[in-house]
Formats: sequence, structure tokens, C-alpha cells
Amino acid sequence: MSKLIFDFNNAVGKTAGPCGFSEKELEDAQRMLEAAHDAMDSKAMGFRRLPTAQDDLLADIETTAGDIRQRYDNFVVLGIGGSALGPIAVHQALFADDADINFFVEDNIDPVRLARVFGGLDLGKTMFNVITKSGKTSETMAQLMAAAGMLQEVGLPLDEHIIATTDKQNGNLARIAREEGLKTLVIPDDVGGRFSELTPVGLLPAAVCGYDIRAMLRGAADMDAICARRENNPAATYALLHVIGMKKGLSISVMLPYADSLKYMSDWYAQIWAESLGKRTNLAGEEVFCGQTPVKALGATDQHSQIQLYTEGPADKIITFLRVETFSRDLDIPKAFAYVDDIAFLGGRAFSELLDAERSATEYALLRAGRPSITITLSEVDAYSVGALLYFFEMATAYAGEMLDINTFDQPGVEEGKLATFALMGKPGFEEKKAEMDARPQKDEAWIME
Ligand code: PA5
Repeated sequence: MSKLIFDFNNAVGKTAGPCGFSEKELEDAQRMLEAAHDAMDSKAMGFRRLPTAQDDLLADIETTAGDIRQRYDNFVVLGIGGSALGPIAVHQALFADDADINFFVEDNIDPVRLARVFGGLDLGKTMFNVITKSGKTSETMAQLMAAAGMLQEVGLPLDEHIIATTDKQNGNLARIAREEGLKTLVIPDDVGGRFSELTPVGLLPAAVCGYDIRAMLRGAADMDAICARRENNPAATYALLHVIGMKKGLSISVMLPYADSLKYMSDWYAQIWAESLGKRTNLAGEEVFCGQTPVKALGATDQHSQIQLYTEGPADKIITFLRVETFSRDLDIPKAFAYVDDIAFLGGRAFSELLDAERSATEYALLRAGRPSITITLSEVDAYSVGALLYFFEMATAYAGEMLDINTFDQPGVEEGKLATFALMGKPGFEEKKAEMDARPQKDEAWIME
């Protein structure tokens, strides 16, 4: 069975040297850590039920996915934020060359992209899966309206081409699903968007792509047991180091996978870390303006782009390497151009070996520069390890939220933008918001240049 290994040496151990957190800093944080453990033990967090409590749902999802794979050529997810980033990350991680369905996630409303993707679909062979927890997000509803419009134009029944994943009863999508008789998969009340990858939000798309969703959930369940420990708990340790880091000016958390398959884990992580921890007030209502800016990078590509900044720029980052031990495929570098001594050392080596050497080298360069880093190794990228990794970051985020004493699971800043969009687009009931927006100072022409 694949497994995950968490190595904190370059942030705390003897090897970390000046870039590590001191014993004193860790000791001072002990009470915060204990309080976080107590909170994690006592608070009911909906996402923690997901790995083990969905048996009936799994059977339905697998049957539905099997049917879709037989009858359709294209599966198109319509959603945004927590309703899209998980499916994208999992698909990128587990994608197999022999996939027998075309999989798309439309998580934006860029008209050029939408026109290209929608225009290229054989609608009769397409199943749309519209995903929105609130059922009212403008981007997703507009996409749904576009899909429905296209289907209706060619006389295809909506209930054979659209599946809804949404709240049990609230929101516009739940209503549309009822009126149109759409198959509906329910996102539990107590699981928010960015914690919902292991609900039907992520499970149906993954099952349609042929990924082993039971193994994903087993990985998550095993990770839950690991992250419930009081000692040797990697999620609590990850959170602790990041929270201590935030308090001493490490305002940036860089996610740096050394595997293209994990590239979009960084996008998924960016959302859960940013939206959960970026908060104006703590639970007592005091202004704290906390959070840590997530940065997405990719090794080895970004060694030739961002690493210069990480090693010599401001000391404001904590870096997480994602390392893969065994790649599902490998390639040897041929011994070509043997007459060029300067490159001969590469010949006969595997690309995976070179990539891992690049990662070790970067880890070393950061260490020398006094910049803390953490390395998470996946023995291989499979459904089990992907489920475990997603769940690990969900637990780390929940721990960090407890340590920061904030509400990890709300997103008032996102809601504000959603309301402003309604006002700008003339949604009835938002006239007051529109008036408030119109009353803001007008832009000064002097600052607009051509
Ligand atoms: O984590 C969250 O709650 C948000 O980022 C949502 O996922 C995002 O705003 C999309 O919302 P919805 O799923 O309600 O369309």
C-alpha cells in the first residue's frame, strides 16, 4: 500500500540550523497545540465523517458513473472554487492514458474558453455535472443556463444530460433539479465547499474517470487516524509550524510539488489555506487580520523562475515540497552526444532520478539560505495516497484554524464579492447594495492612462 512520509527536519530538526524554529518557540506554542487538540477532539467537523460514513452513497455513485461511462463520451463539470478545484487536482493526479471518457472541468466563465469547449462537444454524448453547494453562484448558474440552452436548442432532454450536485433543498439548483427531474447528489449541510472533495463533489467525477474512490476514502480514513494522535501528528505539526511562522513574519506558504501529476494540488491547497485562514476577526470578534498567502509553484520548472526569490529575497516563506518516490512511468536519458563531456553525466540516468536530484538540490539551497521547508513524500501517486494527501491538508487547515482561534469554515470575504456581482448584474433585491457601490468615490481620470 502506498504511504505518505512527512519530514520536518528542515524546519525544526538539528539539520535546520538557523532556518529552523527554536526549541523555545516550540515550547511556547505547546499550550496552543494542546488547545487545538482539545478542540479537534470535541468539535463536530462535518468533513471528518466523510471517509467512513458514505457507504450507501458510494454504491449509487459507482452505478451512476458506470452508466455514464457506457452511454456518454464527454463528462463536463460546471463549478467554481471548492466545487471544481478538487476534481481538477484529482484528475491531474490520477489521469491514465487509457481513459475512455473525455473529462472537462469548466471552472471559469471566460467566453473564449467556454465557446471553444462547448462548441466542440457532441451534446448527445455529453453529461454535464453542475456542482454548487449554495446553488446560487453566478458563474456556475450562468454555465448551467448555457448548457441547458444548448441542449434545449437541439431538443435533448435535460434530465438525461445534467446531474446536479448541491444542497439537499436550499438554493436555485435544488429547485431547478426538482422542477426538471434531474438526478441530484447531495452535499451534506455541514461540509463547506473547500472541504467537499470527498463528498459527491469529487467522488462522482473521480468515479466517472475510473478512479478508485473507495481507495481514496481509505487513504483519508487512515490519515484521519494518524491526524487524531496527540503525539507524532503530522497535520498538527504542519499547522503549528505554519502558525508560529505566521506570527514571526512568514506570511507566505509555498506549495512546491516535484511532479506534474500533483501540480493542481497546489491550486486546491491555495484555496483551502487562503479561504479558511484569511480572516479579519477571531472567534471573540477581535480584529486579527490573520492568514498566510499561498503560492503555487512547480519543480523543477520554477527553479528557473521563482527559486531565486525564495533563496535570496525576503525571508517571508515556508515551503512545502511534494515528492514522489516512484513514478508510474519513467524514461531513461539516452547516452547521446557522448563527445560533449559537459552533459555526459546525464546519459543513462532516469528522468525521475534527475527530478529528485533537482528537488534535493533546491531543498539544500533553501536550507543554506536559512529558509524553512517541509517535505511530504508520496511513495506513489495513486487513489489511496491522493485521498490521504487531500485529507491531510484538510486536517492541517482545521488545526491551523483552531490555533489561530478563528472560524475556519466560513468565507465572509467571498460572500461580499458574490453579493456585489448580484448588484452589478441587476439581481432584484440587491438595489441597496448597488446604491452603496455607486456611492463610492468616482475614479479619477488622472490615474487612468493610455
Ligand atoms: O469554499 C467555499 O465555500 C467557496 O470557495 C465555494 O466553494 C465557492 O465560492 C463556490 O461556491 P458554491 O459551491 O456554493 O457554488
